[in-house]
Amino acid sequence: MSFLLVLVAPPDELEILAADLFDLGAAGVELQEPGQLLMPGTAPLPSGLGRCLAHFTDRETAVAAAAELPRFDAVPVEVPEEDWSVAWRAHHKPMRIGPRVLVHPPWDTAEASRAQVRVAIDPGMAFGTGSHATTALCLERLDELLAERPGADVLDIGTGSGILAIGAALLGAGRVCATENDPIALEAARGGAALNGLAEGRIELLLVEPDHVPGAPFGIVVANILLNTLVELAPAIAARVARGGRLVLSGLLADQGDEAEAAYRAQGLRTVGRKQREEWIRVELERPA
Ligand SMILES: C[S@@+](CC[C@H](N)C(=O)[O-])C[C@H]1O[C@@H](n2cnc3c(N)ncnc32)[C@H](O)[C@@H]1O
Repeated sequence: MSFLLVLVAPPDELEILAADLFDLGAAGVELQEPGQLLMPGTAPLPSGLGRCLAHFTDRETAVAAAAELPRFDAVPVEVPEEDWSVAWRAHHKPMRIGPRVLVHPPWDTAEASRAQVRVAIDPGMAFGTGSHATTALCLERLDELLAERPGADVLDIGTGSGILAIGAALLGAGRVCATENDPIALEAARGGAALNGLAEGRIELLLVEPDHVPGAPFGIVVANILLNTLVELAPAIAARVARGGRLVLSGLLADQGDEAEAAYRAQGLRTVGRKQREEWIRVELERPA
């Protein structure tokens, strides 16, 4: 068993709080910040606030830590040892996404054997099981676009578990390139590619910003990140879209579509479509031929 303390705090206090929790004996601390895409099954954050989830290996240390931080009124909760990192796996079930793709956990292959394209995902600590609306919006569009444009080159910016890049490779994309700024996620993606039987190097996994991706622009670029990052990276991401190529963006709440589109229209792209799922949307743009 391990012991969990949940502390809700303003976002600018989270880092200091995490350092305090480590000093007080926490074995691990997870930070959840407003605007962050949370793992499926995670309770929503209170408006404008963040959360520290601190894990302790024994009750005494957790109780003592809570006593040192009385203003949070936190009480240690006993959780099974494996819970804090992998409990959400229980919610990871096979899902049909797009016309051809079925995403499934590696331990659940029964339904997968009947699908045309199967993507096994054991995402570890990286985002992208397929159950988040933004991932599904991107993967289903990749499926459709690669049916229309077989063999197109695909760039997946912010690959997380690698789900979109792996899907693209299995859907018959040409060159597939996936970028990250988080080395742990990139390793999860590398493991995911191997799990799906893809040869080393089939997906180029790069720890770089989009403007450092080598080679020619891509026929399909997909980026499921948050609005601020998508706007900040707009010149670099847009430059990676080939003439006549498509850009699929998500990680956007429904009311953020206009701002994202404006940033990319300013780079010479034009909007060709939008789709909403739950409170999230996908925006699609094209670079004129
Ligand atoms: C919401 S997840 C998307 C994961 C996966 N592509 C999916 O659709 O489920 C966003 C990912 O983008 C990565 N990321 C954030 N900023 C980035 C940047 N500037 N360059 C590359 N990756 C970035 C994060 O580390 C995270 O893994």
